[in-house]
Amino acid sequence: MRTAPPRAVPRREATPRRYLMCPPAHFKVTYSINPWMDPDKPVDLPLALAQWEDLRDRYRALGHTVEELTPRPDLPDMVFAANGATVVDGRVLGARFAHPERAAEAEVHARWFRDHGYAEVCEPEHINEGEGDFAVTSSWLLAGRGFRSSPLSHPEAQEFFGRPVIGLDLVDPRYYHLDTALCVLDGDEVMYYPGAFSPGSRAVLERLFPDALIATEEDASALGLNAVSDGRHVLLPQMAVGLFAPLRARGFEPIGMDLGELLKGGGSVKCCTGELR
Ligand code: ARG
Repeated sequence: MRTAPPRAVPRREATPRRYLMCPPAHFKVTYSINPWMDPDKPVDLPLALAQWEDLRDRYRALGHTVEELTPRPDLPDMVFAANGATVVDGRVLGARFAHPERAAEAEVHARWFRDHGYAEVCEPEHINEGEGDFAVTSSWLLAGRGFRSSPLSHPEAQEFFGRPVIGLDLVDPRYYHLDTALCVLDGDEVMYYPGAFSPGSRAVLERLFPDALIATEEDASALGLNAVSDGRHVLLPQMAVGLFAPLRARGFEPIGMDLGELLKGGGSVKCCTGELR
């Protein structure tokens, strides 16, 4: 009997990216707008800053550009810069936040884009929390709803970007943003945790992404899907140990990051990283 030859691991190429990040200089958990946030749990601010700098420096070491937003003392969640806008081909769809605690962040982001030469910055009519709920693949704009972004933001985004929007219903409050439950690895290749989605949305994901990397509950609950890929390197929370081998088997290079302090706000690698496409 012959054993099957080992499946060839695809050769992955990283492409240089531009990211927008905001140092957690004023990060704290004083309110709770997701189940991860417990205002009684103290945050170690110097540690949060060190962990964040580690992520920023890692991007730069990989050859990516990181732009920095100036944090505001009255906006403790600003470190989660992915929520402030969605940018595709240099066109910016601004955010509109679901909770009043974060509402003012939208204008800070919009101003940053205007000040940095982005000609088209749309202030949306409907609630959308930027890349928290919008994920860009080569064919689609995947769009989460159920906890934060309004379903009405989906047609608005489709019209603005001219990309087909695939609406996905989030059903588990721990995975309140799409980027806590799904990550785009490359092109139309994703990894996700099915338990975060409604049965119908799960069926949609299976149809669009039959070869997706499926995360276990254990890795999802370490926020392992809150990851950033440059097409080769996948930066993800180091606690999501179960994702490392399947990522390697697909030719990716997983890089575990410790963002434990920011996890107290309900976010990790991806939440801290807006992509300037
Ligand atoms: N505390 C923030 C909130 O609940 C965390 C946001 C995390 N960001 C993300 N892209 N999932 O809004």
